[in-house]
Amino acid sequence: MALKDKIQNKLENSGEYISGEELAKELGVSRAAVWKAVKQLKSEGFGIDSVSSRGYKLLTRADTLSREEIAQALRGGAEELRLIVLESVDSTNNEAKRLLADGLSENALIVANEQTSGRGRLGRSFYSPKNTGIYMSFLIHTELKLSDAVRVTTAASVAVVNAIERVTGVMPEIKWVNDVYVGGKKVCGILTEAVSDFETATARSVIIGIGINITTEDFPEDIRARASSIGSDVPVRNKLIAEVANELMYICGDLSDLSRYIDTYKSHSMIIGKKIDFYINSVRNTGEAMDIDDDGALIVRLADNSTVTLSSGEVTVRLSENAE
Ligand code: BTN
Repeated sequence: MALKDKIQNKLENSGEYISGEELAKELGVSRAAVWKAVKQLKSEGFGIDSVSSRGYKLLTRADTLSREEIAQALRGGAEELRLIVLESVDSTNNEAKRLLADGLSENALIVANEQTSGRGRLGRSFYSPKNTGIYMSFLIHTELKLSDAVRVTTAASVAVVNAIERVTGVMPEIKWVNDVYVGGKKVCGILTEAVSDFETATARSVIIGIGINITTEDFPEDIRARASSIGSDVPVRNKLIAEVANELMYICGDLSDLSRYIDTYKSHSMIIGKKIDFYINSVRNTGEAMDIDDDGALIVRLADNSTVTLSSGEVTVRLSENAE
């Protein structure tokens, strides 16, 4: 067992301060070695208080990814799911595509502790530092009509809000199409990609990539004002990953059963009834978000009282005009 693991055990069992000298003596190492191991534990996410006169005390356990804990919390259908947990990867969606290209025939859940090139919608990047977020891709083989495949996007955001509510008690909102917000800031993004067959107009495989900020703090400058984290003092990543997957397995098991997701989608919408800006062919338009239809498309009323139905794109809520 590595020295840092032995120190972790001792701090967990004690629950009190233990001096560096005592730890060094009991473990037969130098105080400098103890200090180095504590530093490593802190970098892995353990909350350890260091007080020069008293020593070290464990305040919070690290939210360490564990294949076993995720597997234990997975429910129905999970026996046929290939579960892959990686320390670091360029992008879990890319990994899913590589597995597909190698002929993987099972459904798969790919999770990473860090992404070095996390991808977002519209060619953007997704900030994915280690230890603080959830980066997961759910790969399903289907025979979905392309016209139905858009529903996956709507369904995925419902899977995420259901899981966040159940595991953390936090109540998120959904900003059309499928960004998840808490306290007015984005905490989760979803990138859905399909491998399609144009001849039969079906999606043969769908990759649902989900990134959730749990305790991420130091966001890059360009997204700092809009991004946030769910926040948690206790480890939640393994449980939340499994719950999102459980929800996805249930909802995507029958996307034609709208009762599995459309009402929840609407009740969590942060834009229905609000004045919004949206773009058509790069031209900015303004209107009021009226409703979401069964395909997840957004129905918007324009100033002349006509309506448009948006099936993709991005909207921004007009803050000043929606103020109470
Ligand atoms: C967005 O907000 O634009 C979508 C972000 C999607 C991020 C997730 S993290 C897991 C998966 N792998 C990626 O490279 N992207 C998705």
